[in-house]
Amino acid sequence: MATIESILQENRVFPPANEFVKHANVAGMEAYQALCQEAERDYTGFWARLAKQYISWHKPFTRVFDDSNLPFYKWFDDGELNVSWNCLDRHLTTQGDKTAIIFESDEGETVRCSYRELHQQVCRFANALKSRGVQQGDRVVIYMPMRIEAVVAMQACARIGAIHSVVFGGFSAKSVHQRIVDAKAVAVITADEQTRGGKHHPLKVTVDKALALGDTDSVHSVIVLQHTHADIVWHSERDHWWHDITADQPDTCEPTWVNAEHPLFILYTSGSTGKPKGVQHSSAGYLLGTITSMQWVFDYQPNDIFWCTADVGWVTGHSYVTYGPLAIGATQIIFEGVPTYPHAGRFWEIIQKHKVTTFYTAPTAIRSLIKLGVDLPKQYDLSSLRLLGSVGEPINPEAWMWYYTTVGQSRCPVVDTWWQTETGSHIIAPIPGAIAAKPGSCTLPLPGIDVAAIDEAGQPIKEGKGGFLVIKRPFPSLLRTLWNDPERFKNTYFPTDVAGGRYYLSGDSAHCDRDGYFWVMGRVDDVLNVSGHRLGTMEIESALVAHPLVAEAAVVGKPHEIKGESIVAFVVLRKELPDKEEAIKIAATLREWVASEIGAIARPEEIRFGENLPKTRSGKIMRRLLRTLAKGEAITQDTSTLENPAILEQLNQAV
Ligand code: WT7
Repeated sequence: MATIESILQENRVFPPANEFVKHANVAGMEAYQALCQEAERDYTGFWARLAKQYISWHKPFTRVFDDSNLPFYKWFDDGELNVSWNCLDRHLTTQGDKTAIIFESDEGETVRCSYRELHQQVCRFANALKSRGVQQGDRVVIYMPMRIEAVVAMQACARIGAIHSVVFGGFSAKSVHQRIVDAKAVAVITADEQTRGGKHHPLKVTVDKALALGDTDSVHSVIVLQHTHADIVWHSERDHWWHDITADQPDTCEPTWVNAEHPLFILYTSGSTGKPKGVQHSSAGYLLGTITSMQWVFDYQPNDIFWCTADVGWVTGHSYVTYGPLAIGATQIIFEGVPTYPHAGRFWEIIQKHKVTTFYTAPTAIRSLIKLGVDLPKQYDLSSLRLLGSVGEPINPEAWMWYYTTVGQSRCPVVDTWWQTETGSHIIAPIPGAIAAKPGSCTLPLPGIDVAAIDEAGQPIKEGKGGFLVIKRPFPSLLRTLWNDPERFKNTYFPTDVAGGRYYLSGDSAHCDRDGYFWVMGRVDDVLNVSGHRLGTMEIESALVAHPLVAEAAVVGKPHEIKGESIVAFVVLRKELPDKEEAIKIAATLREWVASEIGAIARPEEIRFGENLPKTRSGKIMRRLLRTLAKGEAITQDTSTLENPAILEQLNQAV
């Protein structure tokens, strides 16, 4: 591809504070560089050292890396371990009474669960799964509310070597069905209902619908957690209450020792075309990535109260709720609800109530919280915070600045973590005690991770231009394949038309500045071409968000006779929707603002206002739908993953 032009100028730099560096796990740039150099000198030796240091092995590995059949690589593949043992049992003698989970329900009640109690719950449920005939290697679909039991279900699968496939609780019967069929699941674990923001949403009913769609004979058991006591239809030959089947189970369960490469889970991620991809992760390599990133990026300290707001339906919830924090022995918050219920300060209230030290959330949440009240965090005591994190999308520099100054009170480093479902753990992120942050940049790759922005031929792209963001060497937590579809794995991630298929292709575009910092510019599929200039979405959106009137923005290209494409911007204002006259005025102001901020080439031709943007359930803006709206065409694409379908109508009418 032709390179992408970078037009955004961002010069602010925030070096780590001395006070932070003093206690940091990776203290100072030299410490970071020492790790990078260790990996450079002996790549496999570096990962082998960490795997020995951070994982408790049942049978130690002797082979570190097998690259005899690329792109199908293996790590530590003659070793044996159990991931649940690593997350629970190994803490029992040293810190069994430490709180593992502080659960905060939708309505605000708190339940605490120690490592010992969590271990018992997991063992009982693992025994129950075995009693239902679930065996090592079987696939189990988990469709649960964000409660302690979701973690118990996942850990119990890991304990017996069953492969879980978590489906986000907001997904439809069709999604549940598709995942059951693709993986031939033997069991589904669910609840009667889930509660979020004071509302009840059915789960069991949805599972029933999914199982009625056909091709689901593989499922012999549905296990149901009683949560809201809603009336549900019962199929006695198939359905079992969680409390019934766990009641008489012993609270110990010998873990099933599995090979390092044994699949720990499958997690489906939507591609822009075709059916969702079943990303398959290993046991040891995946676990290692979650632990090293807890250590390096989240700078884990034993007294931390860690809070990742992601649902376990996403990879972020897998790596930074279910596995990473437990493997490292942390105390973490699990929150069932939504940021705005029962009031707009709920997140800040939870931080104050539980003295959260480390807070990890998504730019979409940050932008909507700004919209709800720029100064709201100031009404709460947030002095316990010491580190903030961001994940899921590029964070616009102005949103970063608000997060840093208003939430973090200019005291807490912000770690902007770039990674993917496929990478299992962080790839590019500022190690907070070592690397100076620049708002909007995910900064430098983690030690042992070799990334680059390249052109089709595999050549590094010169400074100031964007290219394909690739990872040059497989590292332990990278996906192993797509479930049941090795060909698609090869063609999607190692296509021969980019650098001859030698590198893992992320699908993102990025540029690298003179300090070696990476700036993600958006998905390669979203690049605009205006008068021969190829522009990423991120930079124009960030310029819009930098205007005090704007809360959120998404830009797309629309065919244009002369320019090739012209820019259409969809904008959410910090105030209510303007009337027509005002909209015209604000649009003119914003067009000039973008032109003066980053150049006339980026001036949007058209601006439309809405109360929100079309987003996936995980908060990503669905630009492909906006492209269709911009062209004035009817939406025929699949909108089943859309969080707020009504918004399309509004944006379509807006001018
Ligand atoms: C895509 C992966 C990463 C776990 C949650 C999402 C975008 C994610 C960042 C970031 C810029 C980011 C990328 C990536 N993305 N984090 N810090 N800066 N972009 O996992 O659903 O697999 O999405 O999210 O486009 O490819 P996912």
